[in-house]
Amino acid sequence: MVPLRVEFGLKYFVAAGWIAALSLAAISALLHSTTPARAQEIGQDDVPSSERASIGLGRVLFFDTELSNPPGQSCASCHSVGAGWTFPDSKTNERLGVPTGAVPGRAESRAVPPVAYAAYIPSGPPTYDFFMGSFVGGLFWDGHATDLTDQVHFPLENPNEMNNLAHGELDAANIARKVRYGHNAEKFKAVYGPTSLEDPPQQVLSEIAKSISDYEKSAEVSPFSSKYDAYVLGKATLSDQEMAGLRLVTGSLNGRPGGPANYKFAQCVLCHAIPSDIRQGPDLWTNSCYANIGVPRNPNNPFYAETDSKTNPLGYNPAGADFVDLGLGDFLYPSLGLPSGNIGAESNGQGDYYAINGTFKATTLRNVDARPSDDFVKAYMHNGCLKSLKDVVHFYNTRNLTTVKGEIIDFTQDDPYAHLQGKPLWPEPEYPSPDTLQNPDGQPASAQAQVGNLGLTDEEEDEIVAFLKTLTDGFFRPNPN
Ligand code: HEC
Ligand code: HEC
Repeated sequence: MVPLRVEFGLKYFVAAGWIAALSLAAISALLHSTTPARAQEIGQDDVPSSERASIGLGRVLFFDTELSNPPGQSCASCHSVGAGWTFPDSKTNERLGVPTGAVPGRAESRAVPPVAYAAYIPSGPPTYDFFMGSFVGGLFWDGHATDLTDQVHFPLENPNEMNNLAHGELDAANIARKVRYGHNAEKFKAVYGPTSLEDPPQQVLSEIAKSISDYEKSAEVSPFSSKYDAYVLGKATLSDQEMAGLRLVTGSLNGRPGGPANYKFAQCVLCHAIPSDIRQGPDLWTNSCYANIGVPRNPNNPFYAETDSKTNPLGYNPAGADFVDLGLGDFLYPSLGLPSGNIGAESNGQGDYYAINGTFKATTLRNVDARPSDDFVKAYMHNGCLKSLKDVVHFYNTRNLTTVKGEIIDFTQDDPYAHLQGKPLWPEPEYPSPDTLQNPDGQPASAQAQVGNLGLTDEEEDEIVAFLKTLTDGFFRPNPN
């Protein structure tokens, strides 16, 4: 159910909200900080032993490759700590951008977001936030899972992921059987009781989900142990280049939103937010808002060719190469009994009245650079179309520009490409909508600094990338008390 408060004149607020976004970032961060038990300053050792046992069980289940059908794929097969809790195969990231599933030949339509810090995402379903002028919260790129415990069921049953299906439904009995006769049975019984694995399969599944989510909520997964965290705690100094990047990202000389203005503002903290007051932390580097930032299609997405309804009746792609990922519009409208995007014959005739089609959740910037080796390629954005942080920052910097100097594409127009003199520097957005492709600061397209036209030099782009690298966990061990 979507709460009533989204029923107001959304479009007005979507437009007006961005203007207010920066000044109100602190209030929003306060409202949405779920502040789980352990943040920056508290160590693992404070966890009660019963919870620690469940976390331990969750950890082995997260790595259990028996839990897919056919066996061979665990949660960690797609969410690997070495790759910042995303897909661990550099070649697949580079070539496809999206992960392959347990069944050979199948792949997901979307790229792998990180699991770390997902515990801090406000629970779904996504609700409208007037301060931010955006929907907020929920797990997945489109918010379709409520919280971490709910989330676990989706990859287990997704035909293009772990594929545990019987008669078109999640095969709880088979999953429960695998744990009962598998190598984690004793650990499971130690947490849930000696006869717990004889309980009805649905209950066993709930307990599996509980423990996996306990693990995901633990400080092991979200340790706040990056160089940036050490800097915040006064235990490390950022290099000049990193500090310049932090100032560009926050628009502030002291690296906190709302501080004394930096000479340039790259706008990142409007969506990848941190609170303006350090005491309102932890710094999550996202406010989990939804936005259409104009990400192009990923032409190499194997999902376009996944059109065989016979071999994959529940996971195939009926639209073929015409597939467009509507993001939040694919979840929120159907949750109200309307078709995806509120488009077509079954729609209520009001079109994209929530202005959500093509919007995706802003992920945390933490661990965006985490990778097992320097030459390892990561796939960024909901469809994995961008392959390096330099590309990402260059995209934000130049998306609205063409080969003619000074020409700016105004995506808030119905046909932004009409009468252009130059060639656009980037391919068309996957969903080029005048309603959702807002300039977050409310600036007109002619303004100097807007998302897509940030006016950054090559050197400044590099400074932002250098800063993003300080968000990789493992720089120090937090509070070894
Ligand atoms: C085949 C690869 C694959 C496997 C296996 C997999 N995931 Fe994922 N995971 C994804 C993709 C892709 C998404 C994004 C999907 C979407 O948004 O629709 C995702 C999203 C998530 C998210 C949401 C993060 C966010 O920012 O909202 C969490 C949490 C998560 N997975 C946990 C798990 C757990 C727990 C398991 C094991 C039970 C698992 N995943 C197995 C690929 C995988
Ligand atoms: C208007 C809100 C907004 C602003 C401003 C913004 N982002 Fe994003 N960011 C998003 C959204 C939404 C996504 C996911 C978009 C998608 O996949 O379609 C994203 C994705 C990303 C990703 C990819 C993350 C991943 O896990 O794949 C990176 C990196 C990133 N942004 C960095 C930045 C930087 C650096 C800046 C400033 C130069 C910035 N963003 C400004 C909303 C924003």
